[in-house]
Amino acid sequence: MTSRAVVTGVGHYLPKRIVPNSEFEATLDTTDEWIKSRSGIERRHFAAEGENTSDLATHAARAALADAGLEVTDIDAIILATSTSDLTFPSAATMVQASLGMTNGFAFDIQAVCAGFVYALSTANSMILSGQCRRVLVIGAETFSRIMDWSDRSTCVLFGDGAGALVLESQDGDGTSKDRGILATDLNSDGRHKDLLYVDGGISTQTTGYLRMQGNQVFRHAVEKLASTAETSLERAGLTADDVDWIVPHQANIRIIKGTAKKMGVGMDRVIVTVQDHGNTSAASIPLALSIGKARGQIKQGDLLVTEAIGGGLAWGSIVLRW
Ligand code: UT7
Repeated sequence: MTSRAVVTGVGHYLPKRIVPNSEFEATLDTTDEWIKSRSGIERRHFAAEGENTSDLATHAARAALADAGLEVTDIDAIILATSTSDLTFPSAATMVQASLGMTNGFAFDIQAVCAGFVYALSTANSMILSGQCRRVLVIGAETFSRIMDWSDRSTCVLFGDGAGALVLESQDGDGTSKDRGILATDLNSDGRHKDLLYVDGGISTQTTGYLRMQGNQVFRHAVEKLASTAETSLERAGLTADDVDWIVPHQANIRIIKGTAKKMGVGMDRVIVTVQDHGNTSAASIPLALSIGKARGQIKQGDLLVTEAIGGGLAWGSIVLRW
């Protein structure tokens, strides 16, 4: 008998305001055609004034709990992946804990930018396998619209706001790759690449700052590192790309998504794509894609998933799990 961290609930939340590419044409030297053809993005959601990351996260958490048929008292911990926390402290996770009315257990944030959800899932998996927790709410939530430089056309058209959440629960497995749950993980970072994607402000500098990105340089790293981390996770699980029912990639750019799938030898009919509707929602993109993939009837119980992400740091990683 082996302990496994199994997904028993999933949910998401998107702010009401939808911004089509055409809205940027009025203020920037850009076109719907450029944004669509270079990134695959057609629209994104932006949070309303006063609507913060923990609000988005709370909605997604409630949806995941309802999907799992659980009450908040059943949860031992909340891990929230975000780079756009409401306040410097306390963590957005503790704000979600309070909003949900959860007075037991513990809650904390994880910051690994676009790879944040993969880092959070891996952390939750370790806590479940060690016996520290039985049920963990893992959330990815972001309000990247708050760190956009609206005069920088090379970044501000690419990002959006949103949240997604999973309930991970300890269940017994046989210790084989046929088990449901997380089967393997792979995390990486290389801080030498800081200047490729960063925010030029922060607490120590007493400014919020704006996102800065050398997009084409990040692109160069992305396909190779994403395919490589996915292959490492699959190998650790004793599986190959042929076994994969769904790649659930971080949704940054359709060309990166297609390039990674091609490098792995997986057809696009086995890839969950939501980038056209959400833009890049950083740590929220993977749980959003999982929730929408399930709602569309694509992801079904027993399917083998590999999820992968790369972002600022650079930080990247992947998870192999059976749904
Ligand atoms: O999630 C975290 C990880 N982030 C990513 O994975 C993002 C990775 N990078 C990308 O997705 C792509 O590199 C971008 C979509 C950001 C850019 O696409 P690209 O094909 O790499 O374009 P580029 O940066 O090489 O720019 C090509 C041209 C430039 O003009 P020149 O120098 O060739 O005259 C840019 O100034 O496109 C120009 N450009 C734009 N034109 C119209 C840049 N942004 C825009 C824009 N509208 N919004």
